[in-house]
Amino acid sequence: MTGPRDFGAPFGSAASEVPPLLRPPAPPERPGSEQPLQFRTRVQEPVLVDEAVAEPDEVVLGPTGRPMIDLPEPRPVVTHGNARIISMCNQKGGVGKTTTTINLGAALAEYGRKVLLVDFDPQGSLSVGLGLSPHQIDLTVYNLLMQRDVTLEDVIVPSGVPGMDLLPSNIDLSAAEVQLVHEVGREQTLQRVLAPAIEHYDVILIDCQPSLGLLTVNALTASDGVLIPLECEYFALRGVALLKTTIDKVQERLNPKLKVEGVLGTMYDGRTLHGREVMQRLVEAWGDTVFHTVIRRTIKFSDSTVAGEPITSYASTSGGAEAYRQLAKEVLDRCPDA
Ligand SMILES: Nc1ncnc2c1ncn2[C@@H]1O[C@H](COP(=O)(O)OP(=O)(O)OP(=O)(O)O)[C@@H](O)[C@H]1O
Ligand SMILES: [Mg+2]
Repeated sequence: MTGPRDFGAPFGSAASEVPPLLRPPAPPERPGSEQPLQFRTRVQEPVLVDEAVAEPDEVVLGPTGRPMIDLPEPRPVVTHGNARIISMCNQKGGVGKTTTTINLGAALAEYGRKVLLVDFDPQGSLSVGLGLSPHQIDLTVYNLLMQRDVTLEDVIVPSGVPGMDLLPSNIDLSAAEVQLVHEVGREQTLQRVLAPAIEHYDVILIDCQPSLGLLTVNALTASDGVLIPLECEYFALRGVALLKTTIDKVQERLNPKLKVEGVLGTMYDGRTLHGREVMQRLVEAWGDTVFHTVIRRTIKFSDSTVAGEPITSYASTSGGAEAYRQLAKEVLDRCPDA
């Protein structure tokens, strides 16, 4: 017979950072003895909105285990400008930062917002995910950062989505991390070059690389808010404390207005106990900072990346597209000035 899974010790030295997600292995069974459970409560199966037929007075729990809230339809915008800058940040790789940047951006553009996406990752996934070939890109965000005679207009390209533009990037950007070290005001470089864009856009989304190095510090310094995508897997919970410490340091030393916009559960599979337990831990740790919107795991995201377009156009009526539209509403509800 196999005992409950233990995610603790065998997976690296930092495992003690996060308390065990599940109960430790059960001791040999002693009839009549009841061991206290470390993982306090058994997760209640949430009644999912899309799977439940709610009675009028019944409280419908969303996938985060909290009652769903009614999100208002975003108000139409007449004039553009005074952009809110939001960084997608998590030093863990493959958690959905780029996917969220593309699809949240496209959903915000559907709601009439003028959106600029900044590819701030030398991997250039955001640019590739919007159909650009790294070799086709002439000028990138690297040129903007390092060459004073290059302007935003020289580098910005249309994204293929109406109302959404892109500041592309490629591997050149990795050199900036080294070169910026010698610059005066190195942490404010992105903030400086993005400043002229603020009056033209409603929202600027920065796709960060999976590290907490100088490029990410630049993104946080330039931002009003941080959106933290977190894959609903136990490993994803590790290291979030370090990310929060970095955000706090940037807020304290470089950018007092910086706030955590929200934590977004991605790649969620509500059919597994593990997925629901991780979600419960997220809400225990971050409370209402966790978005009510949750992005479920679906292969459509990978398919749309291959197609080089957002899911909102590639599979417009899919659950994934709807989820990002709902996230856009929630973001606009949380920060009405966007
Ligand atoms: N909700 C989802 N369901 C299924 N697959 C997803 C989902 N979101 C993203 N993916 C896929 O997971 C992979 C990683 O996603 P993505 O590139 O957005 O992560 P990332 O955090 O930007 O990674 P990196 O840290 O390397 O930049 C991609 O192949 C993407 O298509
Ligand atoms: Mg990415």
